[in-house]
Amino acid sequence: MYKILANTLFLGKNVVFVPECHSTNTLLLELSQKTNQPEGTIVITHSQTRGRGQRGNGWEAEPGMNLTFSLLLKPHFMLAKQQFDLTMAVSLGVFDFLSARIPGRVKIKWPNDLLIGEKKITGILIENGLVGEQIQQSIVGIGLNINQTVFSIATATSLKMETGLDFANNDELNALLQKLETRYLQLRAGKRAELQAAYLKNLYRIGETHSFVANGQKMQGRIDGVDESGRLKVHTDGIDRFFGLKEISFAYE
Ligand code: BTN
Repeated sequence: MYKILANTLFLGKNVVFVPECHSTNTLLLELSQKTNQPEGTIVITHSQTRGRGQRGNGWEAEPGMNLTFSLLLKPHFMLAKQQFDLTMAVSLGVFDFLSARIPGRVKIKWPNDLLIGEKKITGILIENGLVGEQIQQSIVGIGLNINQTVFSIATATSLKMETGLDFANNDELNALLQKLETRYLQLRAGKRAELQAAYLKNLYRIGETHSFVANGQKMQGRIDGVDESGRLKVHTDGIDRFFGLKEISFAYE
């Protein structure tokens, strides 16, 4: 069970805990379609049997060891074409939370992975429901590795692996919700430029030349930023090129 403290304005005021489910994103979507759930509603579980990740990947987490939850936002103040702003705000909320525990070592890997060094500690899956040009609702799924120390992939890490400490998942959830709400309110207040500056400042490999696979071809390029629609701006062969999520991946040298 999760007990949410009264330290946020609306995030986590309505919590739906299920011991097990396929995917909290899927469950929250179903719930929100059946009944009107208030903004800030959270669905959280100890165990996902079909956790979903970006690019059609899965998300694995040892039951009860990590945070796996989804939250419902209703960013009616945003247009569909601005949806990357929400990606930046959510990434920064998680970044702020992690930086308070692992100072100076957290990076945001475009578009919304959180890394410690080269290892991934948090994945985010945002699924937006659009009506015309508006965002009707957003389901923000977060998998944050807390106490798990053995992973099937060598590129994963957790708070415990990085600090040697044990964490209480409930306390960490409360702290994370506060950070997420602060960044969401910053977005709602129209402070997009501040969010973008913070996002770029903490972006993994910004300004560095590395290998990428773009549209099936390996290339060298330098990340120079992100455009308004969230495409990655890569300087290569003397020109700036822009890539969407399915068009580019980081290659490891
Ligand atoms: C990724 O990095 O690929 C995104 C992973 C997102 C995982 C979280 S766990 C809670 C929520 N429910 C899901 O099925 N996925 C997200």
